[in-house]
Amino acid sequence: MKYNLAITRSPSATMANCELTHLDRVQIDMGLLSRQHARYVEILEELELEVLELPAEPTLPDAVFVEDAAVVLDELAVITRPGAESRRAETASIARALSTHRRVLHIEAPGTLDGGDVLVLGRQLYVGRSTRSNQEGIEQLARILSPFNYSVAGVEVRGCLHLKSAACAIGDDALLIQEDWLDPKQFQGARLLHTQPGEDGAANVVRLDRDVIFPLAFPRTAERLEGYGLRVHQLDYSELAKAEGGVTCCSLLLRGSTIG
Ligand code: GLY
Repeated sequence: MKYNLAITRSPSATMANCELTHLDRVQIDMGLLSRQHARYVEILEELELEVLELPAEPTLPDAVFVEDAAVVLDELAVITRPGAESRRAETASIARALSTHRRVLHIEAPGTLDGGDVLVLGRQLYVGRSTRSNQEGIEQLARILSPFNYSVAGVEVRGCLHLKSAACAIGDDALLIQEDWLDPKQFQGARLLHTQPGEDGAANVVRLDRDVIFPLAFPRTAERLEGYGLRVHQLDYSELAKAEGGVTCCSLLLRGSTIG
């Protein structure tokens, strides 16, 4: 079944105060950012997803990056406990929005987990051990998902914020990866497509079956995705990227509803 619902959130006017880990702070053009985010939503709608756009959270600068607040699977949703203290309050509204579509379970302290660290490949989940997701968070996720027949494996990443900065699914058993940010041997059995060297951050891609949403900033990797047989929908993502967000960060994708 294809994804049919995306949850997004309007950008906060305080995004200039966002968390930054590997990037220097530069001025964000908020008008342009708003248009880029609107175009992102429009592409999701063009790809026939219903979009539930949550209202902006004025006091939470990173709240546009809804992906970090939850891990959504067909059977349930796991509300995360984000690694950055400033982002913890983002989860309440996401839990409310998801509760009409999924049974909702939670990562508890002292576990930390960012959804951006969680890569789903069939019944196998890979979780980045990052500055945001700790071993306790990974183990809690494994315990929650074990009864649902999912396996969870921790993965080492280096030099980037989240696992999905370095690797994302482009097929049921295929990944787009940036090899200098992780060791590909950690993904035994998966087919690998490599990003163009020098296009740092190009491994982050939203996959909707044979369609992908992908930043204009990485033209050579876009050619590789097209060569792989995917339809690439490019968008200017410059202002969201300044806040250290990738294209996956701005949506939570659902297939159907498993409540009621
Ligand atoms: N600004 C995105 C994050 O650090 O969580």
